[in-house]
This record gives sequence, structure tokens and C-alpha cells, in this order.
Amino acid sequence: MSDPTRTVVLTGGNAGIGFATAEALLTAGDRLVLGCRNADAAAQAVEELRARTGSDLVESRPLDLADLTSVRGFAASLSDLDRIDVLVNNAGLVLDRRLETAQGVEATFGINHLGHHLLTDLLSDQLLAAGRARIVVVASLAHAMAPGGIRWDLVEGRGRYSMWRAYGQSKLANILHAEALTARFAGTGVVANSLHPGGVRTGFGKDGDTQGLNAAVMRLSERVLISAETGARTSVFLATDPDAGRVSGRYWYRCRRSRISPWTRRTGDVEELVRRSDELVARLS
Ligand SMILES: NC(=O)c1ccc[n+]([C@@H]2O[C@H](COP(=O)([O-])OP(=O)(O)OC[C@H]3O[C@@H](n4cnc5c(N)ncnc54)[C@H](OP(=O)(O)O)[C@@H]3O)[C@@H](O)[C@H]2O)c1
Repeated sequence: MSDPTRTVVLTGGNAGIGFATAEALLTAGDRLVLGCRNADAAAQAVEELRARTGSDLVESRPLDLADLTSVRGFAASLSDLDRIDVLVNNAGLVLDRRLETAQGVEATFGINHLGHHLLTDLLSDQLLAAGRARIVVVASLAHAMAPGGIRWDLVEGRGRYSMWRAYGQSKLANILHAEALTARFAGTGVVANSLHPGGVRTGFGKDGDTQGLNAAVMRLSERVLISAETGARTSVFLATDPDAGRVSGRYWYRCRRSRISPWTRRTGDVEELVRRSDELVARLS
């Protein structure tokens, strides 16, 4: 008899929305593998998740989305999983200055999108093996800060860096990625959806990712933000709800279908994102 326990792979599960998502899915009976870049933080999170849920079906394996070699290593470390029922592409950050990944890609785009693009590719056989798998992409309303779509000159390091432009277009890439995966997996039972979690009180924009005025604004905004548990609801919904498991390529907020900002769309942008992401991965690997 096949094992009824679902296997979930979740990036960035050691903190914030990812941690709350992991807790809810563990409580629901899923088995979780967290991809985390900081070994100590990951070990602490696993211990806390076990204590909170009473489930020991959670572990972490090393993943740094800022390094395509690490992404490949993480995917290879998952080769013991016959199938992956749910992939939650959750990890992400905002940076107030231009940094680069190990392979020289603008880091917000590299971590929030490109690492996840490669990871999803590498796990596609195990997702297909699950029969009815779900890919949940944590995007953001901040995609609205990318009017006219992704500016590839900025990804390539030409033009002046803007923190919210860089973040916004990386989150637009998340939304487009879910649409691209929908086309790629059409007819297979694998669905892909993206979401906005709300404005959530987490480590987002802290821990040195922003400084000075930007950091102060991040701290001040905490008062009006929702808890990580509430912010995780739409991720958990897309990972578990039976009806959501039959929908693909949509953008969600508060467990409902939502609309993406029309000024961010251009004809052919989904295809262009896939082509450029594939090219970058091929050239840099
Ligand atoms: N908070 C909000 O209001 C909000 C709103 C809209 C969308 N989002 C999205 O929600 C997602 C989760 O963010 P959060 O609010 O929960 O922030 P968070 O508390 O800062 O958590 C982010 C997670 O991503 C991980 N991460 C960052 N860079 C990574 C890398 N290079 N490799 C692997 N993992 C990495 C972090 O690991 P470390 O602990 O090691 O840094 C952490 O586990 C992000 O995609 C974010 O864009 C958040």
C-alpha cells in the first residue's frame, strides 16, 4: 500500500511565513523537508516545530538560493524522495543595496526567482510522480512596483538600483513563474499558483537586509502588520484545499482568487521570463 503521508518541500521554513506554514502543514499530518541557508537557525526551527506539533516528520537540508550550486546540491539531497506532493517556494528577501548571487546575478532576482526556477525544474520528475502535486509560490502585492514588467537591464546591472523596483520585479517573476509552470505541467495533475500573504510581521527586511531609514520604516510598519500564522493562511490553503488543488496559474490573496496589477503585464512576458531564466541557468551553471 502506498504511504498516505504527503511530502512537502518548503524553502525558507526556519522563520516567518515559512515557519508558520510548516507548523500548519505538520499539524495537518504532512512530512516536511525545509530548505534553509543557516544550519543553526534551521536546527532550532526543526526542534521548535517538533515541540509545537508533536510530529517528528520534519527535517532541514542545506539550501542557499543565492548559489545555483547549492540549489543543485539541495535538489540532489532530495533524491531519496520518491515523490513530492507539495513544493512551497517561500524563501525571499528585499535588499536596500545591489548585491549579487554567487554567480553574479542581482541578488533579489536571483534568490526570489532564479534559484526557485532551477529548483522547481530539478524537482519536476518527483512532482510528476506524485500524480496530483501542487506548487505554491509566495509572491507579493509588491509586484505592482514593477510597472511595464521586468526591466532586464536592471537585472543585468545596468541602470540605477532601486530596492522596491528590484523586489517588485522579483515578485512579478514569481507570479509569472506560476503561470509558466501551469503551461508546462498542463494535463499532468501538477498545479502551480502564486499568492500575496498580506503585510506580515516577520524578519522581512530586517537582519541587515535594510539599513538606516529603510530599516526604520520596516520597524515602524510592524504595528499594522498581521501575524505570521495569519500570513501563512493562503499558502496553507493552496497546499491543502481540495478545490484549490484543481486550479492552476492563478494569483491568490486571503484564500481567494485575486487580480494582478494590469500595468505590470506585457504580451509574451511569461515566455520571456522562462527563456531568460533558462539561459541564465545554462550559462552560469
Ligand atoms: N512579510 C511580508 O509582509 C511579506 C509580504 C509579501 C510577501 N512576502 C514574501 O513572503 C516570503 C517569506 O518572507 P517572510 O515575510 O516570512 O520573511 P522572513 O521572516 O525574513 O523569512 C524569509 C525566509 O527566507 C529565507 N531566505 C532568504 N534568503 C535565502 C537564501 N538565499 N536561501 C535560502 N533561504 C533564504 C530566510 O532565511 P534566513 O532566516 O536564513 O534569512 C527565511 O527563512 C518571501 O518570499 C517574501 O517576499 C512577505
